[in-house]
Amino acid sequence: MSQDTYLTGITTTGTPHIGNYVGAIRPGIASSKDPSKKNYYFLADLHALAKSEEPKKIHRSTLEIAAAWLALGLDTDNATFYRQSDIPEIPQLTWILTRMTAKGLMNRAHSYKAMVQVNQESGNSDPDKGVTMAFYSYPILMAADILMFKSTKVPVGRDQKQHVEMARDIAQRFNYHYGKLLVTPESVIDDNTAILAGLDGRKMSKSYNNIIPLFENEKGLRKLIMKIKTNSLEPGEPKDIEDSTLYDIYKAFATPDETKDIENKYIEGIAWGEMKQILYDYINDHIKPARDAYQRLIDDPAIVEKELLKGAEKAREVSVPYLAEIRHAVGIRALG
Ligand code: TRP
Repeated sequence: MSQDTYLTGITTTGTPHIGNYVGAIRPGIASSKDPSKKNYYFLADLHALAKSEEPKKIHRSTLEIAAAWLALGLDTDNATFYRQSDIPEIPQLTWILTRMTAKGLMNRAHSYKAMVQVNQESGNSDPDKGVTMAFYSYPILMAADILMFKSTKVPVGRDQKQHVEMARDIAQRFNYHYGKLLVTPESVIDDNTAILAGLDGRKMSKSYNNIIPLFENEKGLRKLIMKIKTNSLEPGEPKDIEDSTLYDIYKAFATPDETKDIENKYIEGIAWGEMKQILYDYINDHIKPARDAYQRLIDDPAIVEKELLKGAEKAREVSVPYLAEIRHAVGIRALG
């Protein structure tokens, strides 16, 4: 068996939050330090463009997400860390793959279907209202991201699994038609990585507006943690760790022994206010060193830019010759 290639993208439409941290950034960084692993991580700013019309927001988010990964210790010598839009081969491959994608396949994308359903339920006469071609063909761009680097494993959240399957379908159709040039990927969904709830108890997500930004300053962090929803049990009354957002977040950060101690405190009836203070202290101590590093990068974005250009150069050592092969295969060739 040849070595697996892992690749994952992060859409640059928001500020990194603690849900991103425990779900994707922390495991990604650990993997970047493992010399036996080949990892590609990239900032999906072209995908952000399909979702947002706010130039400032996309630009700022790209800086914040890149700075977060770097401040937390991503090993950019071992892993390849780049910005999608720095790789012009990706949009070129997207077009070639668009040729190999049945419209019917795109009709079945969950994200597209959800949008159509919203239109229908609100009685709109146009089921495609608000659907741009970028949104509609989003999975083809994602397939190009994946196939461009011969990825075999794609770590994603459950909501992205269908997109990886589409990349597989598209690659197979290409290979059937033009010869076996593309590598078929599979998704990796880690059931052990925590999916954190946010302030209101629903999944932490920028679309629910319930996030705790990873690098919020101390005062802001404390304020947000104090806002996390609890039930109305009084101090001294035993509390259940089930359905306790405070407990879940604590567990995602703490060691198993520390978590056990907290479980005992729940049984003993810890007051919610005290638990919130413990959680705040824990997260704050954990994040503090990286927060300082993050702030330095935000204040000096040229350092981040340089890292991304270094990553792009590394990535293009693969994408440039590979795209040349693909172009040749489809008949786009020099004439003499
Ligand atoms: N669509 C993914 C998301 O919104 C981000 C993404 C873009 C991605 N390209 C990718 C993930 C390629 C994995 C592989 O979360």
